[in-house]
Amino acid sequence: MDKPQIIELPKFLDKRGNLSIIEQFKQIPFEIKRTYWIYDVPGGEHRGGHAYRENQEFIVALSGSFDVILDDGKSKTVYSLNRSYYGLYVPKGYWREMNNFSTNSLAMILASTAYNAEDYIFDYQLFKTHASQR
Ligand code: TYD
Repeated sequence: MDKPQIIELPKFLDKRGNLSIIEQFKQIPFEIKRTYWIYDVPGGEHRGGHAYRENQEFIVALSGSFDVILDDGKSKTVYSLNRSYYGLYVPKGYWREMNNFSTNSLAMILASTAYNAEDYIFDYQLFKTHASQR
């Protein structure tokens, strides 16, 4: 799977409340090495603004809403996430930004690699070169 994709998650609706699930290699195409979450984002702030050489991610809006903007070096696509029963698969090599965070939004991110500062591409021109070699 090398294209970004919204992935619908299993959903068990119950009068006691709902439950959804993510298992590695089942709903998402990678082994989960790391989980982090972004919260208490002040109004108007944006996150991201980088690409990863190797890391793949799966992003879920566990609460509230936000937008994820993915850029493949040629065009940008905006994905609005606002439900906890689906998420966005982000392959390696996409420039990613996140904005439009609602109050009390909670972004959960599952990642395919351990944290590695060397995996980040922060320079947009370098990213464009990297993307053109894809
Ligand atoms: P950063 O990747 O810049 O966040 P975003 O993708 O939202 O722009 O991470 C912010 C800080 O957190 C940065 O100093 C690195 C640190 N960090 C870790 O130490 N481990 C991690 O797994 C992540 C994602 C970030």
